[in-house]
Amino acid sequence: MKIAIGSDHGGFELKAEVMKHLSDRGIEFKDFGCYDANSCDYPDIAKPVAKAVVNKEYDFGILICGTGIGISITANKIKGIRAALCSDCFSAEATRLHNNANILAMGGRVVGPGLALKIVDTFLDTPFSNEERHIRRINKIEE
Ligand code: RB5
Repeated sequence: MKIAIGSDHGGFELKAEVMKHLSDRGIEFKDFGCYDANSCDYPDIAKPVAKAVVNKEYDFGILICGTGIGISITANKIKGIRAALCSDCFSAEATRLHNNANILAMGGRVVGPGLALKIVDTFLDTPFSNEERHIRRINKIEE
């Protein structure tokens, strides 16, 4: 499994925790920035991550800004991206089962690292249900 990960300054600290966790799990990832805690613009990070996921260079994306909102809104503008903003494990599981979400977004000022890492694990370890009704709904999104 290969992950494209990115954050703005608001998600910079949490992203470091997530990257350490991915390393500990032996999961390959690429950090698309930002590379320090200086203020930057989340669309500049969300777009290349989303494009790399759509182009199938990576299996999933993880995007983190202060709230997770701006970075998920931006990612969802890219056709083929289903970015899910999650602050709990129930949603992380459901969005993989039902929406086949391909990007997990989180808010670095919303969730602490303990919960965030459980959300990451839940998201990455839950397969799409592949049920007809969910496939039909996802196809309607793409249309
Ligand atoms: C940056 O201050 C903040 O606006 C950004 O990280 C994010 O929360 C936007 O949605």
